Amino acid sequence: PGRPVVDQLGRALRDLRISITDKCNFRCSYCMPRDQFGSDHVFLPHSQILSFEEITRMARLFAQLGVNKLRITGGEPLLRKEMTRLIAMLAQIRDLEDKPLDIALTTNGTLLQRMAVPLRDAGLERITVSLDALDPDLFRQMSDTKIHVDQVLAGIDAAQQAGIAPIKINMVVKKGVNEHQIVPMAEYFRHSGHILRFIEFMDVGVTNHWDMTDVVGGREILQQLQSRFELEPVHANYPGEVARRWRYKDGGGEVGLITSVTHAFCGDCTRLRMSPEGKLFTCLFADQGFDLRALLRSAATDHEIACTLAGIWTGRADRYSELRDQISGTSGTKKKIEMSYIGG
Ligand code: GTP
Ligand code: 5AD
Ligand code: SF4
Ligand code: SF4
Repeated sequence: PGRPVVDQLGRALRDLRISITDKCNFRCSYCMPRDQFGSDHVFLPHSQILSFEEITRMARLFAQLGVNKLRITGGEPLLRKEMTRLIAMLAQIRDLEDKPLDIALTTNGTLLQRMAVPLRDAGLERITVSLDALDPDLFRQMSDTKIHVDQVLAGIDAAQQAGIAPIKINMVVKKGVNEHQIVPMAEYFRHSGHILRFIEFMDVGVTNHWDMTDVVGGREILQQLQSRFELEPVHANYPGEVARRWRYKDGGGEVGLITSVTHAFCGDCTRLRMSPEGKLFTCLFADQGFDLRALLRSAATDHEIACTLAGIWTGRADRYSELRDQISGTSGTKKKIEMSYIGG
């Protein structure tokens, strides 16, 4: 502990993405299509998912190994009971380890209206809200929900009023589905202080019927934006940032492009992912994880667990997005974890 560990490709371990539930109140077609996640779908039982104490213990060990950012994801993380208590426990790691630790959350925003203030009070600093369309009908269709888009917009406002800034908005773009919302979304979030990010539809998991022809490339998204606004590129906030940043020349703020399909960013990928049941995945497109839960529930000491974690990272050589074209011949058959399980 102390020194950052690096993997086989020289990448340091910096971010831990923690998925705390596989449940969601949406059924986005690109993530949990209802034909695969219907009423008979069996979610993980409570006994199999990590407790807050177990998650916090892991997070602290990772902080000691050099992780400086925790991102809480799901499914929909705000569906997990007493989730603000978890944030408070994670925030304490900052004091215990006496070092900065960025704590962020990716949510669909539906429960933010009442949770924004408690989350902030617990120590949450950053929020990213997924939102694919402003048009109410299209929103309903893409998220496959009865919830009105206004509820998400109100959640974003509540987070802003709670003083969480900047808020990021994630829009997954699907060809022929919500492309025409690119400019209206940009229009809506310009001058709001929020950062809108356009995400290429990715081939995560095996249930979302992904096809290259459904992808709108970042270049095309940018062209649409540039036909309407004047934009200039901005440097990344930190090495390995997934979004490429552009700002409005008139001071309207910035947008981001996340181009995992057309322009991979594995080269400086510093991310590790932990599933709700405590499996550790070294890539979003991995098919197998390391079972930490067994270790956590054994008599292993912190030191022993930390050595195992360091070993997992040291052995890592993943770069799926860069190899996608080579692998995709077999892509239909490659086993991969699901987005709703690992949280993106
Ligand atoms: P910040 O940079 O801290 O704002 O967070 P982020 O952009 O890493 O997190 P977010 O949860 O908002 O993810 C945005 C999109 O990028 C989602 O679609 C993720 O699935 C995708 N993404 C994040 N990390 C990776 C990664 O390592 N590989 C790939 N292929 N996609 C990623
Ligand atoms: N491709 C790209 N982004 C996706 N997300 C979920 N599924 C996909 C996919 N197949 C996004 C969500 C959320 C983020 C964590 O990942 O919209 O904003
Ligand atoms: Fe739920 Fe997010 Fe997946 Fe949509 S993308 S189904 S909101 S976890
Ligand atoms: Fe990292 Fe895997 Fe994504 Fe590449 S595909 S950026 S290695 S998570």
